[in-house]
Amino acid sequence: MTACDVALSQFRARFGGEPDGIWEAPGRVNLIGEHTDYNAGLVLPIALPQRTYVAARRRPDRALHLVSHGMDDAAPIHLDAVAPGTPSDWRRYPAGVLWALEDAGHRVGGVDAAFASEVPVGAGLSSSAAIEGAMGAAASDLFGLDLLADDQGRAQLAAICQRAENHIAGAPTGGMDQAASLRAQPGHALYLDCADSSVRHVPFRLGEHGLTLLVIDTRAEHSHATGQYGARRADCERACARLGVETLREISVDDMAAHLSRLPDERLRKRVRHVVTETHRVRQAVQAMDADDFAELGRLFVDSHASMRDDYEISCPELDLAVLTALEAGALGARMTGGGFGGSAIALVFDQALDATREAVSAAFSRQGHLAPQFILAQAGGPAGRTPLRP
Ligand code: GLA
Repeated sequence: MTACDVALSQFRARFGGEPDGIWEAPGRVNLIGEHTDYNAGLVLPIALPQRTYVAARRRPDRALHLVSHGMDDAAPIHLDAVAPGTPSDWRRYPAGVLWALEDAGHRVGGVDAAFASEVPVGAGLSSSAAIEGAMGAAASDLFGLDLLADDQGRAQLAAICQRAENHIAGAPTGGMDQAASLRAQPGHALYLDCADSSVRHVPFRLGEHGLTLLVIDTRAEHSHATGQYGARRADCERACARLGVETLREISVDDMAAHLSRLPDERLRKRVRHVVTETHRVRQAVQAMDADDFAELGRLFVDSHASMRDDYEISCPELDLAVLTALEAGALGARMTGGGFGGSAIALVFDQALDATREAVSAAFSRQGHLAPQFILAQAGGPAGRTPLRP
C-alpha cells in the first residue's frame, strides 16, 4: 500500500466517510547553502519525490482531529488551545500551520486529517516541513484561501509554515525547508534568495551526465531543539551586532577579512567565515550547474563540508566518515546536508560507482561500530499540492 493509500484508509477507519481530498508535500535535500537561510543568504535545495500525504475534511466546528499512521491517537485539540509548546507531540506542526494561517488573518476552522509519510523521520530530510506543507496545502483548498495557485501565494504559505515551526513547535529554523516543499519545481533545484524570498529554478541535470545524487542517512541523532542550532543562530546575531550590520548577507567575500579583524573572538570569526563563504559557494554552484560543470560542483561540496566541520562546527563523526568514504570511492563531491549534528550527507556519484560507494560507506560504518546507514537516490520532485485522484 502506498503512503497515499494509507492516509486514505486511516481517514476512513478513524473518521468514517470520505475526505474532501488528499494533499501531499515533499521532504527536501539541500544541495548547498547551509545555515545561510536565517542569515538572509542563498540556498539551493531540491524537493524529494518522497512525500507526506494528508487525507482531510473540513469540520463545522474548531476542533482539530489529527491522526498519523504509526502514532497513537490523542484527544482532539481545539484551535484556540494551540500555543507555543501545545500540542507537544508531532501534531504541533499541522496544528501550528492552522494557528499561523489564522494569525495571518486567514479564516480557517476545524479539520479531520489523517497523515501518512514516506519521508524518513530524523534523517534531516525535513519530514516536519513536509507535514506543514501538506497541512498548508490542504487548508488552502479546504478553506478557499487560494494560496497554491501561484508562486506568490506559495511563498506566503511557506512563510506561514515557517512561523508554525518557529512559534508553535519552538524550532528557531530559517525558511529553506518550507520554501523547498512548497515552491520547488520538478527536475529543478530551487535557488532561493532568503533576503527577499525571490527564486530561480535551476535545471538539475545529473542523470544526463551519468551522475546520481546519493543521500546517505547516517542515522546519527540530530535535533534542532537540542540548542546547538539556536546557539549558532545566536552567534550570528552577536556577530552582526558587533559589526553593525543587519544581517551577515551584507558582508561579501571581498570585504570579509576587514570584518573578521573586528570580531573579538575566534569562535565568532569562524561562524562568520562559514556563512559568508557558504553564500558565495551557492552562487558558484549555480554557475557550475548552469554550465554542467559537475567537477566544480563537487569541489564546492567538499569546501562546504570542510567549512561546516571546521568553522561552523556542526558535523559529527558519522557525517565526516560518510563524506570521506564517498570521496575515497570516487565521488565528485560530498558534504553533510541540513541542520547538522547527524542526519544525512550527500554525494555526487558516477552511476557505475554507485554500488561500490554504498558498499564502502556501509563497511566503513560497520568497522567504526556505527548504525548501518541508509541510502536514497535523490531526484528533484515537484512541490506540495492536491493529489490527483486515481481511477
Ligand atoms: C534546518 C533548518 C533550515 C536550515 C538548515 C541548515 O534544516 O530547518 O532552516 O537552517 O537546517 O541549512
